Amino acid sequence: MKNPIEALGYKILTTSMGGEAAGDGKPKLSRRGFMVLSTALGSSCSLASSAKPDGSGSLADVPPDSAPARTSANTTYRTPKPKGPVPRNPDNNFPASGSTSGITFSRVSMSQPYIAITFDDGPHPKNTPRLLDMLRERNIKATFYVIGRNVDLYPNVLRRTVSEGHEIGNHTYTHPILSKLSDSAVRAELTKCRDAVARAAGVKPRTMRPPYGALLQRQREWIHSDLNYPTIMWSVDPLDWKRPGPSVVTSRILSGTTPGAIVLAHDLHSQTVDAMPATLDGLLNKGFKFVTVSQLLAMGAQSGPGQVASGQ
Ligand code: NI
Repeated sequence: MKNPIEALGYKILTTSMGGEAAGDGKPKLSRRGFMVLSTALGSSCSLASSAKPDGSGSLADVPPDSAPARTSANTTYRTPKPKGPVPRNPDNNFPASGSTSGITFSRVSMSQPYIAITFDDGPHPKNTPRLLDMLRERNIKATFYVIGRNVDLYPNVLRRTVSEGHEIGNHTYTHPILSKLSDSAVRAELTKCRDAVARAAGVKPRTMRPPYGALLQRQREWIHSDLNYPTIMWSVDPLDWKRPGPSVVTSRILSGTTPGAIVLAHDLHSQTVDAMPATLDGLLNKGFKFVTVSQLLAMGAQSGPGQVASGQ
């Protein structure tokens, strides 16, 4: 029987070469290509630590956005075989459609150990498929805040992401600083991303995350009422876009994550993906259970009014 992943156009690779990828010439080249891409993209969503969840922060130190470089598809990467048994996220069957009246969420208040991990700025032709392998192995469903422009470049990667049960969020079409744009330009950014996602994978995002966390309260309100998107921020930020090294990314996420957390990370960066096996296993070993952002919001809504924390 044909594997469904192959049916989607993805080549299934054996793991017999596991472990030697780092010494190979090709991955070195592709890593260099990645560095070029990263430089071209500049930093990412979490850059504006100065932008507070309530939208009042200064954005003076946010560099201008630039166009992403086009990179070729990765056909040689093999996810290294993990040592020992891989912990597995439990099978959850939670609704994602609970009505939430909140406009902004950076976490959800709950005592149960549910969390949502989010990956921004993809899809990326090499790092996103690597990450999807890691998530699938652990039965973890994540939420991807995608850039519409990258969706149009790599629609197959988005299709695979959706087919494996992950949630897609709207992260605009070109990753601009929305707080500096007119309402009509903001609307165009969000609808263009939504349409790219629908074209590629037949689904529509349920939530949005502003690039750099930069969105005024007034904008959050009309985006919620007109486009039906709650604004999703985060409660755990490992600053992975600064590329501090995989072990630092892992330790920051493990030390910062509490029940109801929304964890920010970027599948654009190879170091972030390198950090994920240890990060995901560490969170599972601590007893956390992964759900998507919409599921987490629905759980917060079910726990009663006033239970959903955020900078409304
Ligand atoms: Ni971003």
